[in-house]
Amino acid sequence: MALLEILTHPDPRLRLVAQPVTRIDADLQRLIDDMIETMYAAHGVGLAAPQIGASLRLVVMDVSRKDPENDEWVSDLQVFINPRIAEADGEITWKEGCLSVPGVNAEVVRCGRVVLDYLDRSGAPQRLEATGLRAVCIQHELDHLEGTLYVDRLEPLEQKLTLADYERRRTETAAGVQ
Ligand code: NI
Repeated sequence: MALLEILTHPDPRLRLVAQPVTRIDADLQRLIDDMIETMYAAHGVGLAAPQIGASLRLVVMDVSRKDPENDEWVSDLQVFINPRIAEADGEITWKEGCLSVPGVNAEVVRCGRVVLDYLDRSGAPQRLEATGLRAVCIQHELDHLEGTLYVDRLEPLEQKLTLADYERRRTETAAGVQ
């Protein structure tokens, strides 16, 4: 397995509409494994293929949570190939961040419940109903497949402030200031 470079805004490759996956072969399995490793190494809860420069409709996600019964972490790793939202309703506001827009967060309003159709990594069709963080994460990652970033969904002033903060941090990091 290998760590992949995560592209950051304003890389134009983040703005491409991703292509459907047409072959679930050994190369794709390797890419999925590398994306999972990259997501965990970056402490992300989700990663979409366009974020590592692959224009494919492919998402990995792990919204692990502590089991309230025994206080242990429950892994929730999922791989979505050619995902499509079949149903969406309700409303939820969540403070989101993105590995491609590192260093900043902002509240985004999204649907509170989604039903997702997708292929798992063996190619089998699956359907999943999600609420809460999982629903937020699904919508965030599917946006990446359309070339959309969460900052695009902010109100104009909030967007301006968030992007200004992002640019300032980026410039400081580039100059070696922590
Ligand atoms: Ni993101």
